[in-house]
Amino acid sequence: MSENQFLIQIEEELEKLSELAHKKINDAKNNNELEDLRVSFLGKKGKVSTILRNMGKLKADQRPIIGEKANILKIGLQELIGQKKIKLKDIALEQRIKKEKIDITIPSIGTPTGNKHPLISTQEEIVDIFCGLGYSVENGPEIETDFYNFEALNIPEYHPARDMQDTFYLPGNKLLRTHTSPVQVRYLEKNDIPVRIIAPGRVYRRDAVDATHSPVFNQVEVLCIDNDINFSHLRGTVLTFLKTFFGDIPVRFRASYFPFTEPSAEVDVQWKGKWLEVMGCGMVDPLVLDRLGIDSEKNSGFAAGLGIERFCMVRHQIDDIRRFYTNDLRFLEQF
Ligand code: DAH
Repeated sequence: MSENQFLIQIEEELEKLSELAHKKINDAKNNNELEDLRVSFLGKKGKVSTILRNMGKLKADQRPIIGEKANILKIGLQELIGQKKIKLKDIALEQRIKKEKIDITIPSIGTPTGNKHPLISTQEEIVDIFCGLGYSVENGPEIETDFYNFEALNIPEYHPARDMQDTFYLPGNKLLRTHTSPVQVRYLEKNDIPVRIIAPGRVYRRDAVDATHSPVFNQVEVLCIDNDINFSHLRGTVLTFLKTFFGDIPVRFRASYFPFTEPSAEVDVQWKGKWLEVMGCGMVDPLVLDRLGIDSEKNSGFAAGLGIERFCMVRHQIDDIRRFYTNDLRFLEQF
């Protein structure tokens, strides 16, 4: 065979090889197949090299022609393999996405249940105890008038007790209630004696926030009015309540002052070796009853008020009132 014929033969072989390689690379199904193809075409012992082995039979000036063609083929195939690799990757990703598609309409298996906020369960516990003693639950508005929050409770405008209960004032002589005691007045206005109610709810004060103060907190008001209620009833009720809530712990009554009760007392419990003040109470001041048209010669009663946060903090040894309101799950999940 002449050198020219050899040249043509090698050129034809390279062309055929190119066609075959293109087809096979395009058909490759995965990276392994692609790598096998790369080795079989472009490797040291691959098909291109095999063809080039016959280059010796060519004239010196014909060799660069074949050399150039072989190089173009090699670079072309390498590029093709590179592109094919990207394509395979895209296809694989697409298949994975299809497979991993989430059907958000499928009903879930087991929804994690939340739990009650500690303030809610403490309130429920307090309400339960008083319900067991024959009390019913009443509510009043959080936006109050000066009359119900102060005046009717014997706290006139000039009274120093107002200093301790500064609040947020609204137009129209309205304010955010500083305690749940106004519910006493509202209820007595509309209902006949005997009365045994509790009124849990949110109250507001102009207090700076710290570990034991919050401008918004929760109280429970207790009111019992009948025709022969005396301080022993108050004492018995409060003792029963505290012992049910805290267990059998020492309780003491300390003489105190509230404008709407006479006499008044504060109640302490001994908790972990210390006396802690937990509630205020007293015999409803006859003046409050008389102003409401209730004959204080015939009727008497007691009232008490407590802070739910305080009870919850003592019971669970919570060191900072702010933990109740910041919605930190690490805290809330403990209850
Ligand atoms: N209202 C009082 C306060 O927030 C608490 C209180 C004390 C309520 C004595 C009462 C009571 O009913 O008799 O400081």
